Amino acid sequence: MTTRTTPAAAAGTWTLGDLTVNRIGFGAMRLTGSVAFGPGVPGDRDRSIGVLRRAIDLGVDHIDTAAFYFSSRLSANELINRALAPYPDDLVITTKVWPARDPSGAWWWATPEQLRGQVEENLRQLGRDHLDVVNLRIPPSRTTGSIADHFGALAELRDAGLIRHLGVSNAKPEHLAEAQAIAPVVCVQNPLGIGTPAEERELLHRCGEQGIAFVPFFAIAGAGRESGATSAEHPQVLAIARAHGATPAQVRLAWTLRLGPHVLAIPGTGNPDHLEENVAAGTLRLSDDEMARLQTVSSSSPASRT
Ligand SMILES: NC(=O)c1ccc[n+]([C@@H]2O[C@H](COP(=O)([O-])OP(=O)(O)OC[C@H]3O[C@@H](n4cnc5c(N)ncnc54)[C@H](OP(=O)(O)O)[C@@H]3O)[C@@H](O)[C@H]2O)c1
Repeated sequence: MTTRTTPAAAAGTWTLGDLTVNRIGFGAMRLTGSVAFGPGVPGDRDRSIGVLRRAIDLGVDHIDTAAFYFSSRLSANELINRALAPYPDDLVITTKVWPARDPSGAWWWATPEQLRGQVEENLRQLGRDHLDVVNLRIPPSRTTGSIADHFGALAELRDAGLIRHLGVSNAKPEHLAEAQAIAPVVCVQNPLGIGTPAEERELLHRCGEQGIAFVPFFAIAGAGRESGATSAEHPQVLAIARAHGATPAQVRLAWTLRLGPHVLAIPGTGNPDHLEENVAAGTLRLSDDEMARLQTVSSSSPASRT
């Protein structure tokens, strides 16, 4: 597969199974409103569709989504379908299953038998006949438990041709090992950004050693998590941003990309200007000295975003 020379290609490519993607991708969670789940300002349909189309123009060929990304008026999957179908041949859409939200927005978690229904819901909403990558998104209640029954059910759906490749999300090293004993894993999607303690980076390194993509989320939002980025920013991030004529969000993204060639960024935004900035972050190269300075930034530091 040939890679177009586009802004999103500036940070290089990685391969998810047999699917090549630019390392700068896009997360669809913010398309549906200002707050990912719960009360917030619902997103603007036309603006979100414009963001998706512009992302493709900029060369984004890896979009992360979920059927449970919806607000009172918008569904991320349906926006993707409306904006981008018929899909470009090289577009890789990654989704995730296990959590779900009922029409009122309340959360529930699928049994292994219910995962097929969740996969089919994604197929319907996206208007596809197979899903490129499906992450098993592990619930907090399974932090220490087995995921074998759920991952085994997804592996069967992969064998049946509904899914091309599998990943895990919110995973611990034990989860990855357990999943790999069942079927190949092409990516791990976990929270990670400047300030993530070193002891929480074991999977980042393990993925690098094994040639598995590590796909961090909350790389910009940091401690703001689902509530999103705040205007408060750490002085080190600000100083490095100023030195490059870049924004703090770009420094945060560039930091993740420097962690290894297997790291794929999926910044989330519903804002067209932020999309341009985020894709352009692929050209920002941080020096070893800057990486060392950012190493000292703690996510819980009073000076950092809270
Ligand atoms: N597997 C999981 O459990 C899981 C959990 C969370 C997220 N995800 C995925 O990961 C993706 C990324 O996570 P995320 O969207 O929560 O966090 P993020 O990419 O770290 O940050 C998004 C937040 O930062 C803001 N933002 C984005 N670009 C910006 C820029 N250039 N300047 C200033 N602010 C900017 C966004 O607001 P604006 O919309 O105003 O730009 C939003 O508040 C999601 O979209 C989703 O696809 C997966």
